[in-house]
Amino acid sequence: MPDILVLYYSRHGNVAAMARAVANGVGRVAGMHARIRTVPAVSTVCEATEDSIPDQGPPYATLEDLRECAGLALGSPTRFGNMAAALKYFLDGTSSHWLSGTLVGKPAAVFTSTSTLHEGQESTLLSMMLPLLHHGMLLLGIPYSETDLVNTSSGGTPYGASHWAGTDSRRALSEEEKRLCVALGQRLAQTAADLAKS
Ligand SMILES: Cc1cc2nc3c(=O)[nH]c(=O)nc-3n(C[C@H](O)[C@H](O)[C@H](O)COP(=O)(O)O)c2cc1C
Repeated sequence: MPDILVLYYSRHGNVAAMARAVANGVGRVAGMHARIRTVPAVSTVCEATEDSIPDQGPPYATLEDLRECAGLALGSPTRFGNMAAALKYFLDGTSSHWLSGTLVGKPAAVFTSTSTLHEGQESTLLSMMLPLLHHGMLLLGIPYSETDLVNTSSGGTPYGASHWAGTDSRRALSEEEKRLCVALGQRLAQTAADLAKS
């Protein structure tokens, strides 16, 4: 069974922590594995500033990772109510997959972290879905059968997993936020496994 690609960008580590929890959920489905990948930061001179191998953390994603995956979990910090430019930059380079339909019919899910509770989680999650819909992916959210969705006093949405990092961006994932990340990864992996069987 091909891997579930957990692809994220994180500057301060919050989305990285979410990615690990999503990957944990993927691993709870028999035979399923998470392949964790990140993307380099961008700047106005981005092609010249980053090494091809990161100093720490997971490797940078390639188009091959996308081609090989059975499903995709995409994570980004919220930046002005939208995904971070670094992740968008990577997605903007995937037109060869769009032309060949590589991702059509593969399941996908999204997750984000914000410093506030009311300034962009849902808009970021929904906007992250747009390029994935153009690719023909099958978008999954979090159903209300996950009771943490109702009981959380911080992050967690039906559109995907979310985390409230606080004004200093240092608030760790709450137990509810963590469980919702795990549930999302598990749902994604189970759906990919079911699709492979059918
Ligand atoms: C340029 C910029 C824009 C941001 N925009 C928002 C925003 O619209 N809403 C919000 O709540 N947090 C915003 N933040 C805060 C980040 O989303 C938050 O710190 C997040 O937890 C960072 O994730 P990371 O630790 O994975 O990098 C912004 C941060 C930066 C640097």
